Amino acid sequence: MDKKLLAAALAARENAYAPYSKFKVGAAVETADGHIFTGCNVENASYGLTCCAERNAVFAAIGSGARSFKVLCVVADTEEPVAPCGACRQVLAEFPFEKIILANCKGLTKVMTVAELLPYSFGPEALEPEK
Ligand code: THU
Repeated sequence: MDKKLLAAALAARENAYAPYSKFKVGAAVETADGHIFTGCNVENASYGLTCCAERNAVFAAIGSGARSFKVLCVVADTEEPVAPCGACRQVLAEFPFEKIILANCKGLTKVMTVAELLPYSFGPEALEPEK
């Protein structure tokens, strides 16, 4: 399944809209019931409106009704497996994940937890929102 998820993230990366940075990123998230949702980075002429691949993947899943996740894989053409940005780490911290797979286009991977990526995070437990 992890290979399938990486393949989905790589395919999503091809759809990246990154005319400004030229840095294409793809992400794929596996839900608890085995569905895969993908996202790519979408940039904007108003640069700050850019949304990262990881957030677009998670938001696509949420928009389709998913609420439980297992794994997210993010991939870019970097020397080392790509590190998610801080904003994406905060979005990931909203939901329990078994693991996060950082990858590059050569297939190098690094498996991490959200807690490792964002220790001592502010999360939903602080607010106890309605589920
Ligand atoms: N980017 C992502 O999609 N995910 C990350 O975690 C890091 C950054 C995108 C945003 C922007 O389109 C480009 O990479 C360069 O920062």
